[in-house]
Amino acid sequence: MENFTYRNPTKLIFGKNQLEAIAEEIPKYGKNILLVYGGGSIKRNGLYNQVVTLLKDLNVNVLELAGVEPNPRLSTVKKGIAICQNEKIDFLLAVGGGSVIDCTKAIAAGALYDGDVWDIINKKVTATKALPFGTVLTLAATGSEMNPDSVITNWETNEKYVWGSDVTHSSFSILDPVNTMSAPRDQTVYGMVDMMSHVFEQYFHNVKNTPLQDRMCYSVLQTVIETAPKLLEDLQSYEHRETILFSGTIALNGTLQMGYFGDWASHTMEHAVSAVYDIPHAGGLAILFPNWMRYVLDKDVVRMKRLMLSMFDIDTTGKSDREIALEGIDKLSAFWSSLGAPSRLADYDIGEERLDEIAEIAAREMEYGGFGNFKKLNKIDILSILKASL
Ligand code: NZQ
Ligand code: ZN
Repeated sequence: MENFTYRNPTKLIFGKNQLEAIAEEIPKYGKNILLVYGGGSIKRNGLYNQVVTLLKDLNVNVLELAGVEPNPRLSTVKKGIAICQNEKIDFLLAVGGGSVIDCTKAIAAGALYDGDVWDIINKKVTATKALPFGTVLTLAATGSEMNPDSVITNWETNEKYVWGSDVTHSSFSILDPVNTMSAPRDQTVYGMVDMMSHVFEQYFHNVKNTPLQDRMCYSVLQTVIETAPKLLEDLQSYEHRETILFSGTIALNGTLQMGYFGDWASHTMEHAVSAVYDIPHAGGLAILFPNWMRYVLDKDVVRMKRLMLSMFDIDTTGKSDREIALEGIDKLSAFWSSLGAPSRLADYDIGEERLDEIAEIAAREMEYGGFGNFKKLNKIDILSILKASL
């Protein structure tokens, strides 16, 4: 392992009927609250009314920023910053999925930054201050509820970057499986693909002696693989929503990557694809990840084989490590397809036209961010993976 320091200040409030914790938490932070949410799912499922009723009882001033897009945009972040600065907001409450939370993080940091928030998002500047914020999560997927990261798209320049700092952990996050029950089938699938992909990104590193972390990775993957078909049979199952919600948080709250930093090239490539085509994040991952795995396989065939054997039943008789690993990657693709995830860029009507531009964006990000830690990729490698994904 490499030396590491671990700190996660988010207070995780998990389980049934936990929303009322808002009443205890919010008064600690002040009177002027900005409620941030997405395109209306929380109005349709009743969560908005519950939150607003609780806030009314607290006698706080509530302003709203509605309409945060999936793949949240810089323009919306800037709207939120203007509200915070003009209305002297003390605390932000994000109610929604990863997009709403990520947008809230950027607003929280941007509101206290004396310059263009894009400097923070494109990592020219590290945020050292942010307004405090809390979250009520409605979709099991990104782990944003308990990590410092945020992913924002600049639609004018077709750039989508992940950034984060010590000051962008939520103060508290409320995770009630009931609030995820209205998530439609496709978003539920995307969420599960995303959390599995987060485990893969962390599992692929070059650091020696990580047996406990490896087994924790296998355990999260096995849990999601076992639960996913059951949850899709019954989207209203509290038990399965609970398992998946917890898995999503553990998959990316820092627990699995103590002692090393993972690869993250597939995420970087996906962010470049969705910066150009605005497709769902995990739809892109389901397409790209198996092709990345095939492309980098020879870097460490045994590690890939172990991962595949931890997830799938594979008859290994008479087969080489490479054959077993490749069969496992095919099984992963087949598993995701069986859930209803896309498997080719063509599923989103993406052809060859802008692949070069996408590869350029991803290669630039890898250079800045040190992504591609398991196997360094250059633009030609990225283009090959994108072409294999057509
Ligand atoms: O906008 P609303 O109306 O709320 O609807 C959303 C949205 O249309 C809907 N939804 C969410 N919860 C629901 C629901 N619909 C009904 N019932 C519910 N309970 O689902 C749609 C997608 O929501 P979104 O927040 O975009 O999904 P997700 O949580 O997957 O977030 C995706 C974003 O997070 C970034 C992605 O790149 C993408 O921009 N990521 C953030 C990460 C992080 N901060 O750590 C890591 C990830 O790898 C990822 O890159
Ligand atoms: Zn992701």
